[in-house]
Amino acid sequence: MKHKGTILWLTGLSGAGKTTIAKGVAQQLRTRGCRVELLDGDVVRTSLSKELGFSKEDRDTNVRRIGFVANLLSRNGVIAIAAVISPYREIREELRRTTTNFVEVYVQAPLTVCESRDSKGLYAKARAGEIKNFTGISDPYEEPLNPEIICPSYQFTVEQCVHQVISYLESQSYIPVCSLKDREEEAVQGI
Ligand code: ADX
Repeated sequence: MKHKGTILWLTGLSGAGKTTIAKGVAQQLRTRGCRVELLDGDVVRTSLSKELGFSKEDRDTNVRRIGFVANLLSRNGVIAIAAVISPYREIREELRRTTTNFVEVYVQAPLTVCESRDSKGLYAKARAGEIKNFTGISDPYEEPLNPEIICPSYQFTVEQCVHQVISYLESQSYIPVCSLKDREEEAVQGI
């Protein structure tokens, strides 16, 4: 059985671990022979959404663009993995309604955890008022109410979060179930 085109939509605060989990999932899926594409907010904002800022309007435009591309990919059999803050529930629901095989993954970590990591130094700048409208500090983040998957990245390792996503995709027949032999090979490879 082949895998199905899917949109894996990772939403969550900056620093919650969306990109890391997305890359881990992409890597696992590729080793299983799936066609995968990653759409990362930080990357898309250097190209497709280069002119956009962080007002609600601009974020909505960014999210719609990424959803549009993800949909083109998924309907051609690709597993499109989006890692985008996408803070507004309504737009995420719009994507769910207007696409097929939409899987929402809430990468959940408390603001305090994301802020203490501050991997890009942006929270400090936001607190200092150097960055306006920063998600979680001076701009809203609307949690998903019924996501298909919740990855509590503050409690789980990256590997555990990746495993959650892969198991869900298997359970819903988006990807074939991996045999025990395959799993053993993955373990040997340290995946
Ligand atoms: S979204 O709101 O439009 O979905 P997106 O995921 O593309 O956001 O981009 C978020 C990234 O932009 C963050 O990871 C961070 O590196 C950077 N960034 C810069 N300014 C802001 C801001 N005001 N709020 C959130 N993220 C910001």
